[in-house]
Amino acid sequence: MEKVIQHIENNFNNYLEELKEYISIPSISTLDENKKDMITCANYVADKLKSAGMKKTKVIKTDGHPLVYGEWMGAPGKPTVLIYGHYDVQPVDPLDEWKTPPFELTVKAGKMYARGANDNKGQNFVHIKSVESYFKTDGTLPCNVKFLIEGEEEIGSSNLGKFLKTNQKLLKCDAVMISDTSMFAPNTPTVSYGLRGLCYMEIEMIGPKQDLHSGSFGGAVANPINELAKLISKLHDKNGKITIPNFYKDVQKMTKKEKENLKSLKFSEAKFAKELNVKELQGEKGFGTLERLWIRPTLDCNGIVGGFTGKGAKTVLPSKASAKISMRLVPNQDPKTVAKEFTKYVKSLAPKSVKINVKELHGGLPFVAPLEEKAVVAAANAASKAFKKKTVFTREGGSIPIVVEFNKQLNAPVILMGLGLDTDNIHSPNEHFNVSSFKSGIKASAYFLDEMSKI
Ligand code: BES
Ligand code: MN
Repeated sequence: MEKVIQHIENNFNNYLEELKEYISIPSISTLDENKKDMITCANYVADKLKSAGMKKTKVIKTDGHPLVYGEWMGAPGKPTVLIYGHYDVQPVDPLDEWKTPPFELTVKAGKMYARGANDNKGQNFVHIKSVESYFKTDGTLPCNVKFLIEGEEEIGSSNLGKFLKTNQKLLKCDAVMISDTSMFAPNTPTVSYGLRGLCYMEIEMIGPKQDLHSGSFGGAVANPINELAKLISKLHDKNGKITIPNFYKDVQKMTKKEKENLKSLKFSEAKFAKELNVKELQGEKGFGTLERLWIRPTLDCNGIVGGFTGKGAKTVLPSKASAKISMRLVPNQDPKTVAKEFTKYVKSLAPKSVKINVKELHGGLPFVAPLEEKAVVAAANAASKAFKKKTVFTREGGSIPIVVEFNKQLNAPVILMGLGLDTDNIHSPNEHFNVSSFKSGIKASAYFLDEMSKI
């Protein structure tokens, strides 16, 4: 083990150089113009797995972007870990807000800046380099390892979902390891045991047959923007509770152990507010910020458009308006049920003077794992050794819908050993990842494989 850790120290600069190459491929899954880059990136990952020492590496075609697979099953009788990650990234706009080019990894003051530096290239590269360190020193791994790196996480993982259903044998494992979440605080080893789910909806409100003069018609005919705004404001009550009927019906309460764990975490609401540059925090009455983020469902308008939005003033009564609304869900809420209740309720709120269309865009199930799971404990021990600090347990506000599928289809525990920080600007300009987290992450991954060989 010591030799492996020393090898990581000695070769760390090379790992940074390689991450630079990985980052330089603009693998934006949602844009058609980057389709070729997705293939280049998948091949790059497969090559890296191969040179790290993995066997049977392959790029697997899907109806969308390719999947990358690799395995090493040379430890018969030992447990098998499946390491999942994603090589696709989010678009980079608004480009003019980036201080350094998004696809050139730039190290400044201990942080690496680039799209994907954190989410998720930096975090999945950690595991590839940990495996490589074992092969370069011991010539073997302490347990069996399979890698599955996909290219469609940021667009819903629908092809991976299908692949899981038909490849349970290939992917059979004792635990799934994922580094695609956040640490609780800088340099604080963290294992998360929950993720929120998602229900993403779009509302369109249609008024008069075309845009009208707001003087000749304003006041006599419904304005779809006014009506949409009224409707959205009715989705929460004065206590910050969501008003959709039955919305909270399936919401699970925290266990006693969870409550104790939450209490043990040091969290400053004042510091959190200050970092976000807001005077005061806001949310559902009766809950603290961590509860609002992790164990309570939410509803947010993500975007709203309609009417005249150009420079200057144009007097117009718009003919339509639309809004994108997401709900983050918690166990045991079901996105399909929530979408139905949302649609029924929103339609009932709209006045007869407008037409309303409600569409479900996508969704994902929430996830929670028992805190006492063996593999979860193994990951916590490993992270503690690498970061030389006690591991904390958190839940996450974000979503990784495929996690529930892993859990169900492979019947294996999923471990979320996140290495990023919520302040790393993922999905946003100047995304970054701490150089020290990258290094400690590689060590944590190495310790984890060792811990897993003993369970
Ligand atoms: N890595 C994130 C998930 C995440 C974000 C976990 C923040 C913890 C903290 C992942 O790549 C992501 O962005 N997920 C989407 C899923 C959605 C598109 C279904 C999300 O949470 O919005
Ligand atoms: Mn993401």
